Amino acid sequence: MPERMAICPGSFDPLTNGHETIMRRGLALFDRIIVAVTINLKKTPLFTTEERMAMVRASFPDEPRIEIEALDGLLAAYARSRGAVAILRGLRAPSDFEYELQMAQMNRHLHPDLDTVFLASDADGSYVSSSIVKEVARLGGHVADMVPPHVSAALAAKFSGRP
Ligand code: PNS
Repeated sequence: MPERMAICPGSFDPLTNGHETIMRRGLALFDRIIVAVTINLKKTPLFTTEERMAMVRASFPDEPRIEIEALDGLLAAYARSRGAVAILRGLRAPSDFEYELQMAQMNRHLHPDLDTVFLASDADGSYVSSSIVKEVARLGGHVADMVPPHVSAALAAKFSGRP
């Protein structure tokens, strides 16, 4: 049987428990997952590409079926070049769906063999996003139960001494 590999793309600025769970669950569905960390974001990221990639690696230190790469350019072209059978994304709430559907349809238009597989996020984290985690952490709020411990430490280091 040919290997079935999925791309799990995202900015992961920073990685949350929700992202980590989607990747873990994806390992039950696919032989291999490439986590594609986007380099060019619309907004300047809090964490560098290298820091964001290291966060994913730190969550899966002994998992050879997870690879982490930087994504610079069009996801559909990248997925095609790597021979992916699917794009893996999590859906937290109905509000995610409009944007995710648009991206899935565009990616299928660009690469008709490529499907997007959506996994429903766990309900208890459906309000958590990287953006809101950053805002709460910046203002001194508690985010340790929303992100992996190494991300919590990285956020604390980033915001230490800042107003
Ligand atoms: O975690 P995010 O920021 O919601 O992820 C968005 C992402 C990375 C999936 C999307 O911006 C993307 O695919 N970027 C790569 C460039 C691209 O192909 N854009 C067109 C998408 S249809």
